[in-house]
Amino acid sequence: MIIHIHDTAAKAARALIERILQVVAKQPADQKVNIALSGGSTPALMFRLWAEQYDAQTPWEQIRLFWVDERCVPPTDKESNYGMTRDNLLSKINIPEENVVRIKGENTPEEEARRYEAKIRSMVPEEEGFPAFDIVLLGAGDDGHTSSIFPGQEHLLTTNKAYAVGTHPKTGQQRIALTGMPIIHAQHLIFLLTGKNKAPVLADIIDQNDAGPAAYVGHHALHTVEIYTDKAAAQQA
Ligand code: 6PG
Repeated sequence: MIIHIHDTAAKAARALIERILQVVAKQPADQKVNIALSGGSTPALMFRLWAEQYDAQTPWEQIRLFWVDERCVPPTDKESNYGMTRDNLLSKINIPEENVVRIKGENTPEEEARRYEAKIRSMVPEEEGFPAFDIVLLGAGDDGHTSSIFPGQEHLLTTNKAYAVGTHPKTGQQRIALTGMPIIHAQHLIFLLTGKNKAPVLADIIDQNDAGPAAYVGHHALHTVEIYTDKAAAQQA
C-alpha cells in the first residue's frame, strides 16, 4: 500500500491524475485502459482539474470510463454520479461516446445491475472469474463504506455478482454497486480521500483491518493499492 500525502486536496488530485496518465502510458497504444470511477463529491475537483489542465495530454480514445457505483436516479438528478462526472469532466473533453459506459440509474435497480454487469463482462478482461479493471478509483464514507457497499451489507464484499444493488442505510436510496470481488481484482486500486472527515476511514484503511468495507477492500486487494490524500485527512500538521 502506497500512501501519497499532499498539502492540499488540489495537489492530491493533480498527483492522482498524473498517476493515472502514467498507468495509461505504460499500456500498449492499441490496448484500451478500463477505469471505473467513483462518485460522491470528492472526485469533482479532480475531474475539473483533469478537464482544465490535463485534457491535452490525455489519450481519451484509449481510455474507457465505467462507474464503480450509481445512485438509482436519472442522469439529470443532482444525486447522479454520472451527472457529476458529465458536468465536471465529460462535457469539457472529447472522449469517444463509446468509451463512456454509464450505469443507467433510471432503470429498475436489479435489472440494471444485471445489464451493467453483462456489459462490463463483455468489455473488461476477467481474472479468476471477475472483471479486472485496470484502475478502480474509490472514495470512502466516514461510516467506512466504499462503492455503495455499506456497513451491514458486507455480503456485497464476497458475492459472486460483480454488480449488485446496495441501499444507503440512512436515506434508503438504492444504488448499483461494484462489489468486493471485482474491486480487489483491480490492477490498480486507488483511493482518493481528502478532508478531515476522512481521517477515521483513512486510518482504518492504512491499518489494514476489516473495520468496514473500505478498509476490507484495501486489506484484501490482490494487486497494487494506492492512497491519494491530503494533510487534513492524514491528520498531519
Ligand atoms: C457515492 C460514491 C461513494 C463515495 C463516498 C464518499 O456514490 O457516493 O461512490 O462511495 O465515494 O460516499 O463520498 P464523498 O466524496 O461525497 O465524501
